[in-house]
Amino acid sequence: MKIECKVCNRKTLEEFINFGDMPAANAFLKNEDLDKSEYTYKMAVGFCHSCYMTQLINLVPYDKYIIPDETGKTNYAFFSSTSKFMEKHFAKFAEEVESRFLEGNKKVVEIGSNDGIMLKSFEDRKNVLGIEPSYNVAQIARKQSIETIADFFSQDLARKIAKEKKARAVISTNVFLNIIDIHDFVKGVQELLDEKGVFITEDPYLLDILEKNSYDQIYDEHIWYFSLSSLSKLFPIYDMEIFDAKKQEVHGGSMRVYIARKNNYEKSERLKNYLEKEKQKEINTIKPYLEFVKRIEANKEKFVSLIINFKKQGKKIVSYGAASKGTIVQNYCNLGPEIIDYVSDSTLYKQGLYTPGKHIPIVSPEVFHNDNADYAILFAWNHVEEIMEKEQEFLKRGGRFIVHLPEPRILEYSE
Ligand code: TMP
Ligand code: ZN
Repeated sequence: MKIECKVCNRKTLEEFINFGDMPAANAFLKNEDLDKSEYTYKMAVGFCHSCYMTQLINLVPYDKYIIPDETGKTNYAFFSSTSKFMEKHFAKFAEEVESRFLEGNKKVVEIGSNDGIMLKSFEDRKNVLGIEPSYNVAQIARKQSIETIADFFSQDLARKIAKEKKARAVISTNVFLNIIDIHDFVKGVQELLDEKGVFITEDPYLLDILEKNSYDQIYDEHIWYFSLSSLSKLFPIYDMEIFDAKKQEVHGGSMRVYIARKNNYEKSERLKNYLEKEKQKEINTIKPYLEFVKRIEANKEKFVSLIINFKKQGKKIVSYGAASKGTIVQNYCNLGPEIIDYVSDSTLYKQGLYTPGKHIPIVSPEVFHNDNADYAILFAWNHVEEIMEKEQEFLKRGGRFIVHLPEPRILEYSE
């Protein structure tokens, strides 16, 4: 049975995976809420045979995962600047935008600018504008003199900003894939850009998700799983086109995509090669998705038996990084506090809370450092290099990290 696609509205969306009941991935719980009933939804993903957009089928309302503070303003748990590696990534990104596109107009707008991690790298701070719906995060950016509008991006907001001055570059990282009204968003971007303006968006890349068996990239906040093929069908609706794309290692494999009004920039060889690869992988047919499902089912079985065997041997198993991805792995593999003692996480906000669905307690890294765990499941596997470097003591005393993908395994370590 096919259902209606949220992008092209045709009845050509085919469900290929259904995880059953799943909590919102970032709805961490307080101790006093553990006995209350928890919100869940059926997490399922489909592929559209007409516009090729891979998408979440059932959507979760924003208020299930973005929790307002006492004053009613929206707060969010994750501050980008807590990762050194991400700081460097964004500084390089800003440098590229500055040297490649800003001749004649230096105005840059970032949608989902977080605490200003990228915008602070632009030389001319007077010409940058952040849009960040989380009030507490926007405040941090403002303190660093980065003008920030604490609101959701929309066509209406874009018009207001464009009235003053249009932007040469609109940037979003890890945001576009969260946008429910994708048409309103693209219309807004189009109106905000000047004639030579570029929209650069960087999001987890569908081919990486499939190749790495990274089913944990699927969660309520990730509505779209982009390929260049699907985006190539979306932007022409608004007289825009993709002219370049560049793979990035962040977030477990992302694609940086460059879009402008038609016939403004020459299409890169790199883009053509990526599109050719997508064709070879038959990304525009249901086949690779069905194969992915088979692989992750086998992956789950292997992962659970690896962990359970260690548990039976009396090993102490903990985990590292209360990432949204971890929520999916815990619930899909049915691993709770009876198996995993805790999750260590450096985010102050998350410490003392419990993971959605499985209710594993989140503790500070100090607890982990003063402990004698044998194995730590690395839910934040996308930060593996930074974490291995940081956790030398754990590794030197014989502790080991376990990852669930692409194949469940213990990460090798040699001094
Ligand atoms: P992310 O995959 O969405 O970036 O989330 C990663 C989580 O892992 C986030 O809650 C912060 C946490 N974390 C640590 O606890 N220690 C670290 O060294 C890093 C890089 C992340
Ligand atoms: Zn469609």
